[in-house]
Amino acid sequence: MLRHEVDIPAVKARRYKIEIGTEILGRLWPQIEADFGQHGKFVVTDENLVSAGHLEKLLGQRNIPTFIISPAGEASKNINTVVSIMEGMEKAYLGRDTVVVALGGGTVGDIAGFAASVFKRGVPVIQIPTTTVAQADSAVGGKTGVNSSISKNAFGAFWHPAAVYIDVATLTTLDDRQFRAGLVESVKHALIADSEYFGFLEENLDAIFERKAGVLEKVADFNCRIKGKVVEADPHEQNQQRILNYGHTIGHAVETASGFELLHGEAVAIGIIAAGLIEIELQLAQPDRLDRIRRILEKLGVPVKLPKDLAEDKLIDLIKHDKKAIDKWPRFVLISDIGQVHSQDGQWAVKVGQQLVEKTLRRLQR
Ligand SMILES: NC(=O)c1ccc[n+]([C@@H]2O[C@H](COP(=O)([O-])OP(=O)(O)OC[C@H]3O[C@@H](n4cnc5c(N)ncnc54)[C@H](O)[C@@H]3O)[C@@H](O)[C@H]2O)c1
Ligand SMILES: [Zn+2]
Repeated sequence: MLRHEVDIPAVKARRYKIEIGTEILGRLWPQIEADFGQHGKFVVTDENLVSAGHLEKLLGQRNIPTFIISPAGEASKNINTVVSIMEGMEKAYLGRDTVVVALGGGTVGDIAGFAASVFKRGVPVIQIPTTTVAQADSAVGGKTGVNSSISKNAFGAFWHPAAVYIDVATLTTLDDRQFRAGLVESVKHALIADSEYFGFLEENLDAIFERKAGVLEKVADFNCRIKGKVVEADPHEQNQQRILNYGHTIGHAVETASGFELLHGEAVAIGIIAAGLIEIELQLAQPDRLDRIRRILEKLGVPVKLPKDLAEDKLIDLIKHDKKAIDKWPRFVLISDIGQVHSQDGQWAVKVGQQLVEKTLRRLQR
């Protein structure tokens, strides 16, 4: 037998900047040119960003090849859109020196990031997130991908951005329900990592609802700091990134069971309350902590109870199908305090019996 070993030296450390500001969209292109001048550019966005005027703000009169995703949203988050984007890049004679610029919410970022990861074996992507979900969560972290006809985010890659630019002024055109639901990820960040942030959210919710620039910048800053730190510690989601899954195990099941009638953040809000009920049962919390969490979610206007028509056995079945389940039952991320994840034997996700979850679901229906 002949044998060789190929020893790949450690991948070069990657560092990227996140810039946060208000009304910065119109000034970004010269900066992108300064940083990536030698690269060809290709913009990916969706129809709603065009009608809200954000694409025009970014590009001005410049003639840059652009792919506009239509219809906007989850319906286009599939491999066919990725193929159309990459073929669009080829038709524009773009090669390995291209940089993809993603302007939009989580779907645009996930689709464009994935296209960038496979185009000519990978080109850089710049993320310009424009929703509360994308600014808090999806633009930082490097997870990209699309849905299959069978499940969500089935195809994807870790593809960290080359830069992230957050213009909180883009949020002023976002629909109110989307805006509020996306803030649930901010509440989640505060719960798992920063009690001071939780207090800030409690005190500033009205200013956040009025979309005051100063507070929105502060929110983006807290979120990026928290998510950035977790991603630095665990760039490929092997252990610590699991804490970002707080409220998501039951949340995902609720989202799917609702037939996606509930927005992701709305379902996660229910999942956060479920985690809180489990924490009380396991004596990790007193009821007043959950009351405080419930108050902020109620003020956000997201549901804190299960919709009546969701059957418990369907939810249990969906929980068994969780992507992260081992032996048909997932572990749960719980907190021991606001800002502090509970860990057991070095694990951030812990065992919770099926009976306790069933009991919790029944309590969530009342
Ligand atoms: N990669 C990750 O780590 C990660 C994390 C969280 C969520 N996600 C993914 O993100 C997606 C959800 O993100 P989303 O809620 O941003 O969805 P989205 O991109 O579909 O945006 C929601 C809606 O708002 C519109 N929109 C976006 N920005 C706007 C603006 N500034 N003004 C007016 N309208 C605007 C969009 O066109 C869309 O209709 C899901 O597919 C989810 O899987 C990924
Ligand atoms: Zn989420």
